[in-house]
Amino acid sequence: MNNEKIVLFYPHVPEAAREEARKILDTRWIGQGPKVDEFENVWFDQISHPNKAVAVGSGTDALHLAYILAGVGKGDEVITPVFTCTATNTPIFYQGAKPVFADIKPESLNIDVKSVEKLVNERTKAIVCVDYGGLPADLDELQAIADKWHIPLIEDACQAHGAMYKGRYVGSISDFTAFSFQAIKIITTCDGGMLTLKNSELEDKAKRIRWFGIDRQAKIADRWKNDIIEVGYKYQMTDISAAMGLEAMKILPQTLAHHRELFEAYREGLRGIPGITFIGDDDDHRSSCWLCTVLVERREDLKKKLAENGIESNQVHYRNDMYTVFGGRVSHCPNMDKIESKYLVLPIHYFLQVEDIKRICAVIKSGW
Ligand SMILES: Cc1ncc(COP(=O)(O)O)c(C=O)c1O
Repeated sequence: MNNEKIVLFYPHVPEAAREEARKILDTRWIGQGPKVDEFENVWFDQISHPNKAVAVGSGTDALHLAYILAGVGKGDEVITPVFTCTATNTPIFYQGAKPVFADIKPESLNIDVKSVEKLVNERTKAIVCVDYGGLPADLDELQAIADKWHIPLIEDACQAHGAMYKGRYVGSISDFTAFSFQAIKIITTCDGGMLTLKNSELEDKAKRIRWFGIDRQAKIADRWKNDIIEVGYKYQMTDISAAMGLEAMKILPQTLAHHRELFEAYREGLRGIPGITFIGDDDDHRSSCWLCTVLVERREDLKKKLAENGIESNQVHYRNDMYTVFGGRVSHCPNMDKIESKYLVLPIHYFLQVEDIKRICAVIKSGW
């Protein structure tokens, strides 16, 4: 038996991305420069059109910028899934606002529209959804609630590069969409992010706020009025990151196809195993297949069995209301309560092959 260790994640930096990053080090622009504009243009053309794209330093920056641009402020409520990376929700605090946790759906682990309907009220300033593991949330239904209450829908697509909702790329649909290019994402720039905007009038403001509140283009062209009118941050992307992102974009179809192949191998290999439910996707919700998540009985036993066979598995994210900073456990998320002890993430990354997935499925099939 092949006992080589199979890790959950491994960063994928294409050879060309290494070369381009190296070249940037010999130029005048190692911080934000022309490559960032180029990366934004490529993202716009290939992913987010007609929504504008603004490159930033991380997915967390993109989310915070979205909350600022959405007008989220002191005392506001923001409805957001209880189950996600904490980075979805901590920037709500940066704005002095309150995350209000909505339940998730056990079949997708994405925000439950029915729970959102129960929580929305006149204090709600925005609805946040997460495309968990790369699987798009129910965007139409969420948008309908957002429209009814005249509030924006903010989509955390940090895991969903190239995912599609009803045939359209995520990033081209919601009022705001945040992507992450952190180390282990489908596209990595070491760290980096992209915010896409439905309202193109917000583009200039977004670009000012990501760079100290200064109009950088005007400054470079020597026509800046030398005044700062709003609080800015240092949220820009560097040209080194953008150069890496541009190269990763060139092979995005192949990268996604590889993740898809592994995901389908899991779907096939886990079919019919008692005690295992595979979180899949469908034609309307086409996942980027960044994560493979299963619901499993006696999770700790399976984790142990996998570890004994050199296979890493983990929960990756936890319900956010378990963290003190979020104010304590809520009692209105029964689906989260139900799956809390059951969900488990299995390895998917660029360097795995279908044979590895078959090995993992065989271990699971042998029982735990
Ligand atoms: C769902 C989700 N939201 C937000 C983030 C934050 O992105 P970053 O690490 O680029 O700040 C991540 C990834 O880390 C994520 O997976």
